[in-house]
Amino acid sequence: MSEQNENKMEKIVSLCKRRGFVFQGSEIYGGLRGTWDYGPLGVALNNNIKREWWKLFVDSREDMYGLDAAIIMNAKVWEASGHTGAGFCDPLVEDVKTGERFRADHLLQDNGIEAEGLSLEEIDSLIADNAIKSPKGNELSKAREFNMMFASRVGATAGEEGKVYLRPETAQGIFVNFKNVLDSMSPKMPFGIAQIGKAFRNEIAPREFLFRVREFEQMEIEYFVKEEDWETEFEKLRKDIVVWHKHLGLSEENIREYDVPENDLAHYSKRTIDFEYNYPGKGFDELAGFAYRTDHDLKNHMEASGTTMEYIEPDGARFIPHVLEPSFGIGRALTAVLCEAYTEDEMNGEVRTYLKLPVHLAPYRVAVSPLLKNKPHLVEKAREVFTELKAEFSNVAWDDNGNVGKRYRRQDEIGTPYCLVIDFDTLGEEAPENKDTVTVRNRDTGEQERVAIADLVGYLK
Ligand code: GLY
Repeated sequence: MSEQNENKMEKIVSLCKRRGFVFQGSEIYGGLRGTWDYGPLGVALNNNIKREWWKLFVDSREDMYGLDAAIIMNAKVWEASGHTGAGFCDPLVEDVKTGERFRADHLLQDNGIEAEGLSLEEIDSLIADNAIKSPKGNELSKAREFNMMFASRVGATAGEEGKVYLRPETAQGIFVNFKNVLDSMSPKMPFGIAQIGKAFRNEIAPREFLFRVREFEQMEIEYFVKEEDWETEFEKLRKDIVVWHKHLGLSEENIREYDVPENDLAHYSKRTIDFEYNYPGKGFDELAGFAYRTDHDLKNHMEASGTTMEYIEPDGARFIPHVLEPSFGIGRALTAVLCEAYTEDEMNGEVRTYLKLPVHLAPYRVAVSPLLKNKPHLVEKAREVFTELKAEFSNVAWDDNGNVGKRYRRQDEIGTPYCLVIDFDTLGEEAPENKDTVTVRNRDTGEQERVAIADLVGYLK
């Protein structure tokens, strides 16, 4: 990976902190690995991504239903889904001297060894054959399975009875509510249930900014189909995912589809396509997953709970639907969006940094400024314009810090597509023909034009 690309990722992480997108979790206490806090602009960008996803996959379709299930779920859910078993484990090795724990497959990869889908025995052999030691140079223990679920207890119950898990995927909230949605909404096949929410995984080695974290947010759909239709519906949804990534502004050359080999499929999947993004300094890696989960989950929940998960056709035919699952991590989507948008160019003889975010994702659509903040009549007029635009768009920034040049640089860095300046022309004090117009500056070109206040809403839309 080129040094330039590595630097780019560092610069993005630094911009995220400096400009209020993403902070380290529990930072003032030295941080908590694998957790990140979204600042004011990170929340705005996240919310925009979620809103656009919901619009595209739920609100604009007749075959999708929304859901918001609880994060804490009965431990029986995870036994039935298979998550308490070996299928939801990562291989762990320990430094025998310090007790530090590492993900065995990552250690192998860091030593240039392909490590996907290996058994524990294969990992042990590769570690021995290649004389791989811990990063401190000590011997490593034998590999063992480490379950990634966070367990907790509810109430004051002791023993196994009160044991619960924080969900490691939102998907199971959908499966356990399958019958509720059938009974309340009478959906026609095929149909999907969509959910956005937090999920938790006790990663052995959280790393790479928002990429591998212990607490994250997912946007997931379980799309229920007849078994014989799964391939046709898979192809249709695959195309919808391509459209979604375009909507995020991600360029085609930075996305690729990877058909996950059989030995590396999740325990529930018969086919999975990973949509990968070309992250700077990292290369292609997972952005979203798209899995054919067969009837694994509904069948297991039906057996374990005794609740029927059958769909009944108008002609009385009954069957357990099969499931297609597009699954998106919001942190990864946000990272990809930032990587794609991060741009350096030269403007007025100076290097500038800006985020070329699509208008529908930018934290602020527009920033409004008075040319000078010590001129009350300019400020008053600018406030008027600001209030009008805020009523229309809501994500409008008021910016009167520093001089206009500095405001432009700051708004460029956070990806605000337009900056408006209310000046003496606006008040008709200098060029009467410009009365009631403002300067609109375009983030990408730096060009400015005068637009009538009355036309601003249309212009900015
Ligand atoms: N539901 C799929 C995943 O969380 O990876």
